[in-house]
Amino acid sequence: MRMRDPKFFEEHNARHFWHPMAHPAEMLKNPPIVVASAEGVEITDVNGHRTLDAVGGLWNVNLGYSCQPVKDAITGQLATLPYYSSFRGTSNAAAVELSYALTEWFSEDGLTRAFFTSGGSDSVETALRLSRQYHRIRGELDRTKFISIRQGYHGTHFGGASVNGNAKFRRNYEPMLPGCFHIPAPWTYRNPFNETDPARLAELCALLLEEEIKFQSPDTVAAFIMEPVLGSGGIIVPHESFMPKVREICDRYGVLLIADEVITAFGRTGAWTGSRLWGVKPDLACIAKGISNGYFPFGAAMISEKIANAFEDNKNAFGSIGHGYTYSGHPVGAAAALATLEETQKLNVADNAAARGDELLAGCKELQNKHQIVGDVRGKGLMVCLELVADRESKAPINKGAMDIALSAAYEAGVMIRVSGNNIILSPSLVITADHVATIITAVDSGLTAAAKA
Ligand SMILES: Cc1ncc(COP(=O)(O)O)c(C=O)c1O
Repeated sequence: MRMRDPKFFEEHNARHFWHPMAHPAEMLKNPPIVVASAEGVEITDVNGHRTLDAVGGLWNVNLGYSCQPVKDAITGQLATLPYYSSFRGTSNAAAVELSYALTEWFSEDGLTRAFFTSGGSDSVETALRLSRQYHRIRGELDRTKFISIRQGYHGTHFGGASVNGNAKFRRNYEPMLPGCFHIPAPWTYRNPFNETDPARLAELCALLLEEEIKFQSPDTVAAFIMEPVLGSGGIIVPHESFMPKVREICDRYGVLLIADEVITAFGRTGAWTGSRLWGVKPDLACIAKGISNGYFPFGAAMISEKIANAFEDNKNAFGSIGHGYTYSGHPVGAAAALATLEETQKLNVADNAAARGDELLAGCKELQNKHQIVGDVRGKGLMVCLELVADRESKAPINKGAMDIALSAAYEAGVMIRVSGNNIILSPSLVITADHVATIITAVDSGLTAAAKA
């Protein structure tokens, strides 16, 4: 790339580049931080300011930015076979190897087939479609509806946005897919019942799921989709009884359970998968992000034996999959994923995520004691959220200006954090050390001090 004065990037960024999840006018007014390079778990911007990345890219650079085996796998595969289609009739060695490795990886979750995609939204779309098709194959033609959780995030395709639980991602794009319904999140800090006991709340939310299935008529419901730990909606950690209860209810009414594991699949919660964390076997799981350490856009819908058998035993036209992407099973992505899986296991990042996550959560709870603007702190593994409020009593969200100040002050103090609405979300690489955790806490402390003065 051409050598440029750093100002060039700030000046030109939003003139020609529209950003995801941003207002183009605001991007023109407030230029973003332009990241130029990265090493280990740190990033450096075009002005040479180096910070610890407490966002982990976008909860995907699980092994940090210097994972040489993944880089080597990508360049090696580029030299051997940079692309070939996996549409009916052709395949490639890397994708076959990866499907084998993934079914071993997910065997404890009962997931034995992989349908490859280019990312999380694609994986969600695939799981939603395959779940409808599963019922069709079995002659239950009316099972087309989906139920999901408010505050859930399932990407931005129309299917995913329709099961999404946040108006922000839906409002400007309505009407959404018909036949999608939502239940309240098992979120103790804010819920319609004012219920603060997590087990009781889990029971109430599960009851509402059952009520909704019955109300819709069970023979019209295809699937329930949930994140084992809700991520983008503000790290909502359900009580351990919730997902097992959901599994039971889905089984009782013949509804498929889709686990959206785009964030949780490769150790982030401290368990190897979010479903395993709660002792549940889903019918389908959506994976992406950490599968390739963020170095290549890649994902998959993982499929259980039950679903696989229905398709594979089917001899009529209903079983043929009329869905897929040009980049499904991309050999470079598959090679990146194979190397990532190997490193992920070798470094045992799930254990590190659990230990560092406990430290990070404890540190953030201390910050809650110190700063009145921290209304709630919650987390599991290396998914941690501080929810900022203007007033603890009313729980009114703090204003956007204060959030922007928190981000800038933390950045100046040496740590990149993510702000989403009135939440500070921390999702660093899973290879961080206890010292890194201490650095994150100190910088978030500075961010909160600055935001409180705003
Ligand atoms: C749980 C979940 N599902 C789906 C997605 C969408 O993934 P992508 O942005 O790769 O399309 C995300 C992205 O953050 C996610 O967190």
